[in-house]
This record gives sequence, C-alpha cells and structure tokens, in this order.
Amino acid sequence: MAFETIIVEVEDHVALIKLNRPDALNALNSELLKELGQALSEADQNDKVRCIVITGSEKAFAAGADIKEMSEKTFVEMFLSDFFGDHGDAITKIRKPIIAAVSGYALGGGCELAMMCDFIIASDTAKFGQPEINLGVIAGLGGTQRLTRYVGKSKSMDMHLTGRFMDADEAERSGLVSRVVPGKKLMDEAMGAAQKIAEKSMLSAIAAKEAVNRAYETTLTEGLLYERRLFHSLFATEDQKEGMAAFAEKRQAQFRDK
Ligand code: HXC
Repeated sequence: MAFETIIVEVEDHVALIKLNRPDALNALNSELLKELGQALSEADQNDKVRCIVITGSEKAFAAGADIKEMSEKTFVEMFLSDFFGDHGDAITKIRKPIIAAVSGYALGGGCELAMMCDFIIASDTAKFGQPEINLGVIAGLGGTQRLTRYVGKSKSMDMHLTGRFMDADEAERSGLVSRVVPGKKLMDEAMGAAQKIAEKSMLSAIAAKEAVNRAYETTLTEGLLYERRLFHSLFATEDQKEGMAAFAEKRQAQFRDK
C-alpha cells in the first residue's frame, strides 16, 4: 500500500518503517499515526516479516505530536475523539518484535512512540524529552507512565516537570535505550539486531515479548507463573526440539515456526 507520511520497505524478513514528514521533523499527526498503525498491522500479518524497525531521519525520530494540528482543538474535541488513544493502543497490540532506531530528536509523542517499541537503539545524536509542559499540557501517549517505569520516578519527574532533553549517554545510563552507536552506524546496528531476531523461532520471539511486557502489567508472582507456563508450552513445539538438537550437534538451528 502507498503511504503519504511513512515509507515502508520489506527486506530479508524485516519491515523497515521510516517516518517521513521531513518539513515537520516527523511530527506525529493523525494521518501519520493512522498510516503507521496500518503498516504495523500489515507487517504483523505478513508471513515474510519476522521483525519490524521504526526509524525517522538523521535530525529527528519524531519531534512530538503535531502542535499545529492540536493547537486549536477544544477539550470536547480531544475527549470525544479520544485523541491518539486508539493509535497508541494499536501499536502496543503488534505481536512481532519492534525496534525503534532513534537519531536526533525523540520528543513528546516521539519519545512516547519510541517507548512503545520493544527496545530502542539510539544514535549518539539522540535527544529524548517530554517537553509538553512548555506548551501548557502534559504527555498524552503514555509518557508519564512508561518513562517512569523505564527510568524511575526522579528522572521521569525531572523530564516531565522541567521539559529538559536527555542525551544518548544519559538515556543509556538510565536504561531507556539498549545501545548507543555512532550516527553513521545506527541503521546497520538496528537492521543487524532485527536480522538476528528474524533468525529465531517466531514462537519463542513472541513468547519472550509477551512475557517481558507482562512484567509491566502484573505482580512478580503472577509474572513468574506466566513466564513458566509459556516456557513449558514451548516444549510442545518442533522448534524447541530443533533448537536443542542443533546445540547438541554443534550446528545452526533451522527454525520453522512449528
Ligand atoms: C509541528 C513541528 C514540531 C511539532 C517541529 N516542527 N516540531 N511542527 N509539531 N511537534 C516543525 C517546525 O514548526 C518547523 O516548521 C520545522 O518543524 C523545523 O523545526 P524548527 O523548530 O525550525 O527546528 P529547530 O530549530 O532545529 O528545533 C528543533 C526542535 C523544535 C527543538 C525539535 O522544533 C521543537 O521544540 N519542536 C517541538 C517539540 C515539542 O514540544 N514536542 C512535544 C509536542 S506535544 P516551520 O514550517 O515552522 O519551518 C506532544 C504531545 C503528545 O508530543 C501527546 C499526544 C496525545
């Protein structure tokens, strides 16, 4: 499908989705979020796709929700349309792993979009922030909840209350991103990670994603039980037999998602 605000390429089992509103630093408007939701859902259903990478430009992953689209909205319009609520929910329902490859600004809704992905690989130029307070509002796509869970209360409060930006080093130190690489290597690193994931059994990749995400939704006891049951269930798969046989035979496993 042709999109106006994103570019989608599928290569070697990886769907690469590039946010593409260069004149607005990839600000997230309704059109972009709708197209992103469609592209993600298509990738999730496409048997050829085994991992998804979302990226922006060198200057900006996304500089937030589109302020020009929002500025004249009334409370009633925001409330009745549940502004961006559906779009956020759609992204977190994708079952295949999603990597955010972040260069430059990831602010407001851009930071929130990156946090909705399964992990973030950042360029050394990345800048994360929740500067909505400077606009007289607060985060609205999960920032107060996800950033707090990922980096802790003190740093999250600092970011939301002062509106300051966090550089890539600080983001890595605080656990917001999994790796930081030089800008020129960002896409190789992200696509390399995606290829590695694409080689695994989709059964265990989806189970791992579900189990890690459960850690943010439930008690430790319930989460441990959920993990153990999923772990047990993977012994019903051919891929478990293949993975363990390949280890014993000192060869590369050939997973078939069965
Ligand atoms: C609309 C935006 C935009 C945004 C940048 N642009 N961010 N348009 N919404 N969020 C546009 C600018 O208006 C400008 O277009 C062009 O992109 C380039 O931006 P500049 O400001 O000229 O670039 P620069 O001086 O390099 O500054 C970069 C920046 C700054 C620091 C990232 O653009 C900035 O502060 N942007 C806003 C960041 C922000 O407040 N984000 C949170 C948004 S609220 P023109 O046509 O004027 O040249 C949010 C809420 C989420 O995200 C909740 C949703 C439910």
